[in-house]
Amino acid sequence: MPHLLHLDSSADLARSRSRAITAAFAEAWRARGPEFTATHRDLHRDPLPHLPDPELHWPDAARRPDANPPAAEDALQREVLAELLAADVLLVGAPLYNYTVPSTLKVWIDQVHVPGITTGEGAQPLAGRPAVVVSSRGGVYDAGTPTESWDHGVPVLRIVLGNALGMDVHVVQTSATLADRVPELAGLRERADAEFAAAVRTAEELAATL
Ligand SMILES: Cc1cc2nc3c(=O)[nH]c(=O)nc-3n(C[C@H](O)[C@H](O)[C@H](O)COP(=O)(O)O)c2cc1C
Repeated sequence: MPHLLHLDSSADLARSRSRAITAAFAEAWRARGPEFTATHRDLHRDPLPHLPDPELHWPDAARRPDANPPAAEDALQREVLAELLAADVLLVGAPLYNYTVPSTLKVWIDQVHVPGITTGEGAQPLAGRPAVVVSSRGGVYDAGTPTESWDHGVPVLRIVLGNALGMDVHVVQTSATLADRVPELAGLRERADAEFAAAVRTAEELAATL
C-alpha cells in the first residue's frame, strides 16, 4: 500500500499557502484509490520537543557507554523515525521563516537525521524515495538579484533529505506571498497568484504520478 507522510509547519492556520498546496497534494494522492494512504503530522499544532540530549543524534549502538537520554523523548524519536521509514513518499510544507525553515520543522529534521538509521555508509533506507518540499516565501529570491542566495530553507532540506537521506527531492515553490500585505511588494500580486496556481497544479501532478 503506497503510503504518504504529510508534514505541515506553517503557523498560519487560516491563509497558509504551503498548507493549501500540501492539502491539494494529499487530496490528489488519496484520489488515486483506497490503497493510497496517508499520515498527517502537523508540526505547528503538535510540535515535537527539541532534542534534550545529543546522544539522541545517534543510534543505540553508537551512543557513548554512559549515555542516558530521557526515556520519553527516546521513545518519541523512535516513533517519529518509524513514521518516516514507513513512508513511500514524504511531503513537507516548508514556509520561509527568517530565511530558513520554521523552528518546528528544524526540530523534526533533528529528530530524523540519525547516522546509522536514516543516513551513513550502508544506511540509507529511504534512498530513491520521493520527497516533495513545498516552499512558500513572502518575498522573492530571483536569480541575479541581491537576495538570490538568502533562502536557507530549501537548501537545508535538499542537503538533509537529498544528500544525507538519499531521497529524490522535488521542490514546489510559491513566492511573493506577502504581495497582498506589504506595500513594497504590491506590484507582485499577479505574479504571486500565478505562482500559487502553478504550484497547486504541480503538486497535484506529482501526487498523481509519484
Ligand atoms: C515568523 C515569520 C518569519 C518570516 N520570515 C520571512 C523571510 O525571512 N523571508 C520571506 O520571504 N518571508 C518571510 N515570512 C513570510 C512567509 O514566508 C510567508 O508569509 C509565507 O507565505 C509563509 O508560508 P505560509 O503561507 O504557508 O504560512 C515570514 C513569516 C513569518 C510568520
